[in-house]
Amino acid sequence: MKCWSIILAAGSGSRLAEAAGGKKKQFIEWKGAPLFWHSAVVLSRVARTQGVVFVFPEEDLEDAREQLKGLDKFRYLGMPWVAVAGGPRRQDSVYNGLTALPRECETVLVHDAARPFMTPALVNRLLDALKGGAKGVIPALPVTDTIKAVDGNTVSGTPDRATLRAIQTPQGFIRSVLQQAHDTCRTENWQVTDDASVLEQAGIPVMIVDGEPANIKITHPEDLAMLESQSSSAPAMVPVVGWGYDVHRYGSGRPMKLGGVPIPGGPEVVAHSDGDVLLHALTDALLGCIGGGDIGEHFPDTSAEFDNISSGILLNEVADKAAQAGLVITNVDVTVIAQIPKLAPWKDHIKKNICRLLKLEPIQVNVKATTEEKLGFTGEKKGIKAVATVTALRPAG
Ligand code: CTP
Ligand code: MG
Repeated sequence: MKCWSIILAAGSGSRLAEAAGGKKKQFIEWKGAPLFWHSAVVLSRVARTQGVVFVFPEEDLEDAREQLKGLDKFRYLGMPWVAVAGGPRRQDSVYNGLTALPRECETVLVHDAARPFMTPALVNRLLDALKGGAKGVIPALPVTDTIKAVDGNTVSGTPDRATLRAIQTPQGFIRSVLQQAHDTCRTENWQVTDDASVLEQAGIPVMIVDGEPANIKITHPEDLAMLESQSSSAPAMVPVVGWGYDVHRYGSGRPMKLGGVPIPGGPEVVAHSDGDVLLHALTDALLGCIGGGDIGEHFPDTSAEFDNISSGILLNEVADKAAQAGLVITNVDVTVIAQIPKLAPWKDHIKKNICRLLKLEPIQVNVKATTEEKLGFTGEKKGIKAVATVTALRPAG
């Protein structure tokens, strides 16, 4: 599903204006770029998003567009973007943003530029929920304070805290659903403070996923300290590369499996696990991205526990460890080297299975096969080998 993001930066930042020296908060400089840029960078790291619509105050639109061109030239967003003018209320700005989405866009993330600390992991949770059938999905955190309803100076009620959640952005939607709900919102003149409310008023269910405590909205002067200390900021990410290599001997043992896909007619391989040379190389490459040693340290081939174990399970376990380390995989490139069997008919199956195992999109996975021109042990049909490269972003430090 093609996904675009709308980054809302068309507010007046009135609660912060004085402390920010009269600057609207979305234009405050942080780490050498305005706040609105940082959210766009996080979204652009998620391979499943295709582009960004920025919404700026009408009076700032031209300047902001120029600033974006400069940032894109030197810091490179890596995806198309457009900038449009917002409206008087947040919901008007969203409406204008929706009209600027390209035809191809099927899902949309609406995000406040004033929340620069969200992570790719949160964006992925939202996209997974949309893929799973949600029409609208929002990040939610349990509340720690007791929340009271008030009428002037008097408490009028105390909702049960267990049923309350604090809601953040980005909020994810099926584009057509959000568009229709916003159309109705406009004609019926509803007043809302977020986009989920528009779906709620239209009677459409909205799902929640876990939000992030660090994903605060810069609103009041004291929030500026968060920018300075960076204590709650999303960790800076560094690009990393992991490489893996594995060999299996042909001989009676396990029926051939590559990338989790059975290869009928392929020679059997000698192995302790299921002998999937490709997934072993891939698992090692993933371990390489997190300083995780090698596959043998984690799953010793002397252990009965791992006898004939599916290599997909081993890969899953390492992928879980990588996710815990905050790793965001950007690309997987694997090559199988064998004289026999012929792998062309299986490459696409294998690619699909790697996408499924690592929750990646087809563009992020490449599967190749080659022979070694009858040279060496693969050329003599004595065995098979595979190499894998994983590129990823890892939290710095
Ligand atoms: N926003 C917008 N268009 C508006 C109002 C708000 O695009 N007419 C954006 C803001 O730029 C911000 C997000 O919506 O990124 C959330 O709004 P809020 O935190 O209330 O920002 P401001 O309205 O700018 O601040 P304030 O309410 O203090 O004036
Ligand atoms: Mg506001």
